[in-house]
Amino acid sequence: MPPTRMAGNGRETVLATVIDGKQVAASVIDTVKAATAALDKQSGVQAGLAVIIVGDDPASHAYVGSKSKMAKECGFKSVQHTLPLETTQEDLAALVASLNADDTIHGILVQLPLPKHLNSEPIIQSILPEKDVDGLHVVNAGKLAVGDLETGLVSCTPAGAMVFVRRTHGEDLSGLNAVVVGRSNLFGKPMAQLLLNANATVTIAHSRTKDLPSVCRNADILVAAVGRPEMVKADWVKRGATVIDVGINRIAAPEKGEGKTRLVGDVAFAEAAEVADVITPVPGGVGPMTIAMLMANTVIAAHRAAGQTPPKF
Ligand SMILES: NC(=O)c1ccc[n+]([C@@H]2O[C@H](COP(=O)([O-])OP(=O)(O)OC[C@H]3O[C@@H](n4cnc5c(N)ncnc54)[C@H](OP(=O)(O)O)[C@@H]3O)[C@@H](O)[C@H]2O)c1
Repeated sequence: MPPTRMAGNGRETVLATVIDGKQVAASVIDTVKAATAALDKQSGVQAGLAVIIVGDDPASHAYVGSKSKMAKECGFKSVQHTLPLETTQEDLAALVASLNADDTIHGILVQLPLPKHLNSEPIIQSILPEKDVDGLHVVNAGKLAVGDLETGLVSCTPAGAMVFVRRTHGEDLSGLNAVVVGRSNLFGKPMAQLLLNANATVTIAHSRTKDLPSVCRNADILVAAVGRPEMVKADWVKRGATVIDVGINRIAAPEKGEGKTRLVGDVAFAEAAEVADVITPVPGGVGPMTIAMLMANTVIAAHRAAGQTPPKF
């Protein structure tokens, strides 16, 4: 039974179940570890992930560091290429080409954003689609669009959000209305495709959508990926809905002291939790799933390369 609390009107309110993203991510990682060990035992193949970072942006270094560390924990061959800021487009392209040709590497990730003098798009599109563990290659976007989840690789954050949806509603979303707010190639579009593949009736909303609150109120599954702090209010949420908050926004938190900040999502969490049945927090919701699904994609790619059936997540 989910916890209750007194709402402002004095009535007792049933609060939503809050998904623990760290716990779900840990369970994905457990599956990755087991699958990595089994693949090594059956085929003598160690899954390999190569991560490329260019320049010295501290946030990118922190992300790459945790990806490489997690890859080692999963039992992968983990290779990190740290390139100087002055790296040329040709140097970077040559590195990707050498990793494409390396049979011990099953996943290649180029940390974005790249420094301004580099053009990321041709680099991303030069990664072999079967090694594109970020799911950003047009071949992988196309496979998702035609519903081919068997041979394509899906972008990590939507793949992670979809794990929450499956664990809440099961594999088949027939009869459910899903609304995705945001239409980016990185998240909104692939998320909508995944929901559609699972038989949900999907609406994609964006900055040009008319009367967004009423569009959102139609959602049994509401996914917010906008980048606007606490934009989705309680009265945008249908009672009993599942709310997945993808937004990561840093806002001022004077209550924590002068100059302090805190992270919030795109959903006004406390008030939405009084209306939704299931909700994800920020931080600790979708965020931890992104690295977990990168590991999942790498072990999937390694299984396919070895001609083995990959695990399901
Ligand atoms: N690991 C993670 O947890 C993870 C991963 C990826 C993203 N994120 C977070 O998710 C959020 C979205 O990321 P993104 O890459 O998809 O962002 P993005 O490329 O900036 O896309 C934002 C989308 O929101 C729409 N939008 C903007 N203002 C709106 C409004 N007032 N009403 C309705 N729609 C509006 C935009 O519409 P138009 O297309 O019409 O401009 C656009 O489609 C960000 O906070 C990001 O930090 C988190």
